[in-house]
Amino acid sequence: MNLKFPKNFIFGAATAAYQIEGGRRADGKGESIWDTFCDIKGNIDRNETGEVACDHYHRFREDVAKMKEMHLDSYRFSVAWTRIIPDGDGKVNPKGVAFYDALIDELLSAGIEPMLTMFHWDLPQALQDKGGWLNPESVKWYTHYAEVLFDAFGGKVKKFITFNEPFVFTDFGYVTGTFPPGIKGNYRNKLIAAHNVLKSHGSAVRLFRKKKINGEIGITLDYAYNCPATKQDKDVKAAARANEFWAGWYFEPVVLGRYPEHAKKWFAERGLLPEITDDDMQLIAEPIDFLGINHYFVNYLEADETNDREGTRTVYPNVHHTDMDWPVTEDGFYELLKYLQSVLKVPLYITENGVSLNDIVTLDGTVEDYDRIDYMKRYLSKLSQAIEEGLDCRGYYYWSLMDNMEWAAGYKPRFGLIYVDYPTQRRIIKRSGEWYRSLIDEKNKV
Ligand code: BGC
Repeated sequence: MNLKFPKNFIFGAATAAYQIEGGRRADGKGESIWDTFCDIKGNIDRNETGEVACDHYHRFREDVAKMKEMHLDSYRFSVAWTRIIPDGDGKVNPKGVAFYDALIDELLSAGIEPMLTMFHWDLPQALQDKGGWLNPESVKWYTHYAEVLFDAFGGKVKKFITFNEPFVFTDFGYVTGTFPPGIKGNYRNKLIAAHNVLKSHGSAVRLFRKKKINGEIGITLDYAYNCPATKQDKDVKAAARANEFWAGWYFEPVVLGRYPEHAKKWFAERGLLPEITDDDMQLIAEPIDFLGINHYFVNYLEADETNDREGTRTVYPNVHHTDMDWPVTEDGFYELLKYLQSVLKVPLYITENGVSLNDIVTLDGTVEDYDRIDYMKRYLSKLSQAIEEGLDCRGYYYWSLMDNMEWAAGYKPRFGLIYVDYPTQRRIIKRSGEWYRSLIDEKNKV
């Protein structure tokens, strides 16, 4: 197995504000849609909430010390909009700014590069009350928030990510209804929200350039990727078509400057498409410095004409499955990397990849998560191969730094390199965290 990475390759770990911070009302923080969504019984497994989570808000220094112990090159975290501007569009809260400023300073003095995600799903409730992403004003609200972040952290933070996974929060928010605002089956609203989110992204990138911020800006898209189950032409075409309805709906506008053709036509014929202008498309495709991709698994598809939308049906591979029943499909990851290599003109970062396992603490106080090490080896060997074959990928962030609140699934899934014992908030670096450190040390020796 080949795990060779260039010395300047960045190995990091990622988290998101709502999943780890806690401190729901600390220092003037406003309410987000996740705060209010979790208050409603039945929305989250076991009715868990992020009220305390990993209490990272109060323990961030201890957490940075653990990152240092693991020799991480970089840490990807997200900012809670409601700490910075509690009502979303009004006055800035200096204490919220001070929290992230202290975190960034702590990282820099530990020699860890901060990568800042500006939006990881926790929209201010006050903005949701005005229609949230369905309101065309959302582009202005977001750009104002972006300006506050650029002014506060620009120069210190060298990598900004405008959004995390717009597919997931718009689709789960308006189609499956499993995320706030919890609407089911409203494709039209999903597409309106997605369009406003993509415009907000472009508007923030434009502002970043205008203000000549010293650093780079990109976006993180999830790409679950649909792979053809066979090499037959009909399956290859069907899988490509399916991608248009999923990740492609976000990827193509940002990277190629257009919505995918077939899906666009399909939505238009059913009156589901929002108004899309040429100016919108130019804004959305505003050149970025890098693309972040989050990837966990692929779906294998074969052609099925009875499905009038995507024209596919899923074929289930006989592979290992994780604790959340996600398949482990590293060969598909390689297919995705090859596709990205063929279309991308900017450097790539894998901003998330990881596995949830049923981790336990042994009587000796250790966490022996060898299956996680195996998962990482499988995916990283494919990444290393693709880089050797010419893919310009500059970094990999394991999801997640530590166990945390897995959104609607609550605290049961454990993704971390660090085990969190929630009742005591004790942290234990798992075997996988130690293995990751040895991989980082190996790379730095080269
Ligand atoms: C998200 C994370 C999430 C992870 C595992 C991604 O969709 O960005 O917030 O915890 O996957 O589900």
